[in-house]
Amino acid sequence: MEYFVTGGAGFIGSFVVDRLAPRNSVTVYDNLSTGKEEFIAHHFSEKYFRFVKGDLLDIRQAAPRRCVVTTPSAHSCKPRHKEGH
Ligand SMILES: NC(=O)c1ccc[n+]([C@@H]2O[C@H](COP(=O)([O-])OP(=O)(O)OC[C@H]3O[C@@H](n4cnc5c(N)ncnc54)[C@H](O)[C@@H]3O)[C@@H](O)[C@H]2O)c1
Repeated sequence: MEYFVTGGAGFIGSFVVDRLAPRNSVTVYDNLSTGKEEFIAHHFSEKYFRFVKGDLLDIRQAAPRRCVVTTPSAHSCKPRHKEGH
């Protein structure tokens, strides 16, 4: 099974990743705003593990067509507005 875990470098997300990898193909998509690479570093050497540093606001670029597990808090996904708007 292929999993796309947003917020996978966070506290809860990294536990989810630990349960899924290495038996599944896991892509962690995280902007590391509060998450830490060290939470998932022990998976870096696994063949079917991938880490992509990216923001959920750009999620369409990643175009996930897989099972998505998401953990970031709602406020972290609100669109950012340019100053003065
Ligand atoms: N930690 C707890 O005990 C607990 C308990 C109940 C509910 N929750 C809820 O679960 C969720 C996750 O909690 P957590 O403790 O794992 O938080 P966390 O901050 O450790 O994890 C959130 C992850 O999402 C990433 N992230 C945030 N905004 C992002 C964005 N725009 N694009 C990409 N990645 C982004 C962060 O870098 C981080 O890795 C929150 O909604 C929290 O309120 C947590």
